[in-house]
Amino acid sequence: ASFCVQKLLVSSGFHIHLLLANIATTTARHDRSQTSTMETELREKFSNAGQDHLFKYWDQLSESQQSAFLKQLSKLGDPEAFIRDVSNAIAYSSSVAESKEYTQLPQSSYTSTISSSKETLNEWETKGIELIKDGKVGIILMAGGQGTRLGSSLPKGCYDVGLPSHKSLFQIQVERIKKLEQLAGVEKSLTLYVMTSQPTRQPTEEFFQKHEYFGWDKEQIIFFNQGTLPAVDLEGQKLLLGQDKCSLAESPDGNGGLYKALFDNGILDSFKEKGIEHIHMYCIDNILVKVGDPTFMGFSVLNGFDVATKVVRKNDPAEKVGLIVLDKKANKPCVIEYSEISQKLSEAKDETDPSLLKLRAANIVNHYYNVDFLQRMVPQWIKSRKNLPYHIAKKKIACTDINTGEPIKPTENNGIKMEQFIFDVFPSVDLEKFGCLEVAREDEFSPLKNAPGSVSDSPEMCRANCLKRSTRWIIENGGLLESADALVEVSPLTSYFGEGLSGVADQNFAADTVL
Ligand code: UD1
Repeated sequence: ASFCVQKLLVSSGFHIHLLLANIATTTARHDRSQTSTMETELREKFSNAGQDHLFKYWDQLSESQQSAFLKQLSKLGDPEAFIRDVSNAIAYSSSVAESKEYTQLPQSSYTSTISSSKETLNEWETKGIELIKDGKVGIILMAGGQGTRLGSSLPKGCYDVGLPSHKSLFQIQVERIKKLEQLAGVEKSLTLYVMTSQPTRQPTEEFFQKHEYFGWDKEQIIFFNQGTLPAVDLEGQKLLLGQDKCSLAESPDGNGGLYKALFDNGILDSFKEKGIEHIHMYCIDNILVKVGDPTFMGFSVLNGFDVATKVVRKNDPAEKVGLIVLDKKANKPCVIEYSEISQKLSEAKDETDPSLLKLRAANIVNHYYNVDFLQRMVPQWIKSRKNLPYHIAKKKIACTDINTGEPIKPTENNGIKMEQFIFDVFPSVDLEKFGCLEVAREDEFSPLKNAPGSVSDSPEMCRANCLKRSTRWIIENGGLLESADALVEVSPLTSYFGEGLSGVADQNFAADTVL
């Protein structure tokens, strides 16, 4: 064909124009006929699923809007099956997981750093550092959430909680990884895989670019997107039409979308290519997170776990944390999310020690995965809704009023967003291959969830908890404070977790010093 075109080009400019015009017309006709077949098929499918309303404003759309809409609709696959999954999710949430019997994990699956000996902790840490040195550790940061409770327009990782240095969560976490490489005596050993979503991707990448990747090598950071799921009305029956009338109202598919995203974006292959054998996965919102924690990696690897998780002690029944528990009948680990636990169960006391809650292992979303296990399981997990069911969250969802065609910006919940939960796959791990490590809350958990001034998990609390921890390190190393209430910030570039601070002995520190 290219030979013919060349010949024509040489012989006549006019003929080639004619030929190209003909090709363009034929292609457009072909595209239109394909679009109309697709339209007929999809209209029928969506009509059978009770979703005719989505086509109500079809005639007002341009040709390109119509074809983009059809593409989006076809991605949903089977709308009837989707609505069925939504109904199941609604039914599950109203049964609040009452049907099963849950207990704490058995002692054999539960270890605490608080009661472990120094030797044991050192052994784990040494192993973790060795793995980092050998390039066997990869880190996944989940940063796809929209942070609606915090009320900031930027992704949560860009948030400045008001530390004296005014570092963002992203900066603090990248600096911790840099420090970890330094401790392991290597460069370019760790890769940070940042999971973003359609709404957070661009502002996240722009923030990293603007801050020149916080002095780290940009080749060591890989961004990838999670998927989306359509939103439905409060009855769970009708898909919501987006404000533009030519799209479904959608939102990120929850942090359980991680597995599909790992698969779809070739991240599992990237682990293999880079020789990564072990993963630390964590959430953006925890200001105290020990990113790539060598102690946790060593604990998980030396015990031969496929999956492990860190927890803190839950004392307040009302705290919004998931609980790592044992499903007694199945003899499998699992998590009961705070939004799906009954009040009775969350308030139940331990039978032998009533000063403790019966279920108290609070999920802080710090998970370890063995890469071979992930490679084996992810394709299975993402195939079946049984492994990753939908969960519902009632929200204010911007959409089109089907009756009037006007855009709605609701002030009250008008729909349901669907989400998958990352921990729903835990029951597919054998109990003896699942580890749970309790850590001290004041050392490792202070999440940023709510707007300034809130009574829990606010920016002010994150700031205070971060400064209190570093001030503790200063005092433990013999440093002195100019006033009893002075709080000092220790940069992650100075110390990863309180080490290397012997130089502060007998020195005086004023409030808000940055070390
Ligand atoms: C989460 C946990 C909860 C735990 C608590 C601790 C889940 C499902 N729930 O609850 O058990 O006790 O943290 O703080 O894990 N994210 C995405 N994409 C999304 C949604 C969320 O990447 O579509 C990320 C967020 O950016 C964040 C993390 O997942 O890093 C947690 O999300 P969030 O919705 O804040 O979870 P919680 O409801 O607080």
